[in-house]
Amino acid sequence: MNSAEKRITMFGGKGGVGKTTCAAATATKFTRAGQKTLVISTDPTPSLSDIFETKPSRGPTQVSNNLDIMEFQTDDIKEMWNRKFGHEVYEVFSSFVSIDYDSFVDFITSTLPAMGEEFTVDYIRELSLTKVYDRIVWDTAPLGQTIKLLTMPNMLQEHLNIAPRIYSKIKLGRESNRPILDIIKGWGDLSGEDVNFLRNEVNFIMVTIPESLAVQQLDDAFFDFERHGLKFSQIIINNIIPASTSVFFSQKTHLQQKYIELIHKKYSDMEIIELPLSSIEIKGLARIEETGEILFSR
Ligand SMILES: Nc1ncnc2c1ncn2[C@@H]1O[C@H](COP(=O)(O)OP(=O)(O)OP(=O)(O)O)[C@@H](O)[C@H]1O
Ligand SMILES: [Mg+2]
Repeated sequence: MNSAEKRITMFGGKGGVGKTTCAAATATKFTRAGQKTLVISTDPTPSLSDIFETKPSRGPTQVSNNLDIMEFQTDDIKEMWNRKFGHEVYEVFSSFVSIDYDSFVDFITSTLPAMGEEFTVDYIRELSLTKVYDRIVWDTAPLGQTIKLLTMPNMLQEHLNIAPRIYSKIKLGRESNRPILDIIKGWGDLSGEDVNFLRNEVNFIMVTIPESLAVQQLDDAFFDFERHGLKFSQIIINNIIPASTSVFFSQKTHLQQKYIELIHKKYSDMEIIELPLSSIEIKGLARIEETGEILFSR
């Protein structure tokens, strides 16, 4: 499948480079083509509702005819945990640790960060299966967290390879009618599905700015992705300073040019889009749509 045809588009990149802005702008391009689109942010400190000038709320919020936005939060992770296999896993734990169910779910979903990440990927996978949206645009947290998110299903698999040896000695309560290894296999299947989902159905776009540290992080991300069999299909270089007669800005342009050329050279086989620095704040649907037009003007 051509990467642009994939229904889920994920935006990643270093903190503050313009992921949310580019995700929002891309979504408006899809809605203009008549596709029902959701922008979902999995950043724990999201700015999606701020940029669209709506109130933050639980679940999808309609922004325009074909466009919804949603900020995925810890409560959503908790709810999913409950629905998917909360009680099964609780049974395993409560057979050797005395803990009430609510504290257990709190512990698992917030104290064990890996679980939160696994569930975030799984949430988007489930959402894509419902076919409610033609397109899902996925706005992520800054790179470190996102890479954990992408590599988590694999790590869970590795853990589960040795899990039978650890868990098989644990006796379940009488209420359980499922062998523990079956339950563990269920977790393994889930993370396997999530890995496949990331590999096959998600189009990854990296956003960067033409500065030393950002380019370094782009390279690190590229290798991290590659190590897990994932590839990004496009790079957006954001905040490019338009030509100016001012000495200050000419110097800055000169500096940016060096990094723009470096990115083109390193990623010559990839589509690279350049987005100029705007003199006005990119907020509200109209401005976001304009940015979408600039992004996809070629
Ligand atoms: N091309 C641009 N021109 C002008 N301002 C921009 C541009 N791109 C982004 N911005 C502004 O820069 C700030 C950071 O952008 P944005 O929130 O999209 O970045 P982010 O990568 O999502 O940040 P975070 O890592 O905090 O989630 C915002 O105030 C946004 O309006
Ligand atoms: Mg953001």
